[in-house]
Amino acid sequence: SRPVLIDTDPGCDDAVALLLALEHAACEVVGLTTVHGNAPVDDTTRNARAILEAVDRTDVPVSRGADRPLLVDLETSEHVHGEGGIRGELPGPSSATEPVDVNAAQFIVEQARAHDGDLTLAPIGPLTNVALAHAMEPDLPDLLDELVVMGGAAFASGNVTPLAEANFHTDPHAARRVVRDCRPTVVGLDVTTRAAVPPERVEGLSRDTALGRSLHEWLTYYDGERLERYGIDAAAIHDAVVVAWLVDEGVLETRSYPMDVGADGDLARGALVVDENGVTGEEANGTVAVDADYERYRELVAGSLEGVLER
Ligand code: BDR
Ligand code: CA
Repeated sequence: SRPVLIDTDPGCDDAVALLLALEHAACEVVGLTTVHGNAPVDDTTRNARAILEAVDRTDVPVSRGADRPLLVDLETSEHVHGEGGIRGELPGPSSATEPVDVNAAQFIVEQARAHDGDLTLAPIGPLTNVALAHAMEPDLPDLLDELVVMGGAAFASGNVTPLAEANFHTDPHAARRVVRDCRPTVVGLDVTTRAAVPPERVEGLSRDTALGRSLHEWLTYYDGERLERYGIDAAAIHDAVVVAWLVDEGVLETRSYPMDVGADGDLARGALVVDENGVTGEEANGTVAVDADYERYRELVAGSLEGVLER
């Protein structure tokens, strides 16, 4: 199994991604680092800890990360994910998941060094911690096996502005640094918007426990207006696509391109800019997901969640 460090801002779809990673034998989750994003970092840290406790994984260390973007003001998404950044009814965490006393950027660097080229870093929130880790250790990309990011909207419209997706828009300068300098694989809205567990499967995943009821909320966190806006019939579980690909490469089709992120000015803020036609003449510096096998994704996610609930 591959060592994976997940940088996260739970978040309903983050929660599903975490359950999948914690459940699947192909991933050895070596830690969670938390970041502002769907809610302030105090909230996302509490949520990450509560999820670990709900599945009895208090062995996984939690490191608290950045409380704001590098340069722009903090913006959060409780209007999408619920009060405190997550729906559901998990009890607050105990001292069993007290965060470690190194911050997330430092923790990322330490774990990358300790795993000596074998670590996969999977950021599924704004990229502040990863950009700070890269500032501390410029060789970070070489120290990692894989850096796979949920963010951007490579060949599609955004969910915050017409051009930008939330994780990239929230900290555009961090996203720019990671895309320019860290050779990421980027899984964007183009493929994640249609990555859902369909309603007929969700019912089968419901249980009358705090975790079961919470999971139901996480899988159905889009309201009718949001579903209609995106032309989909079930909530997009964006972040779980990253984990699904880590356990089964067949879930995504990917392609490498020269790419960059718009950081300045209103319209281009946080836009993932992919040079599909090679007009820049630059070498490819990253990879993007271009399509997904949604049936495979759904089976993988639903099957793993059943495993989580049966424990
Ligand atoms: C991304 O933004 C967050 O709201 C979600 O958790 C996901 O990481 C989707 O744009
Ligand atoms: Ca997220």
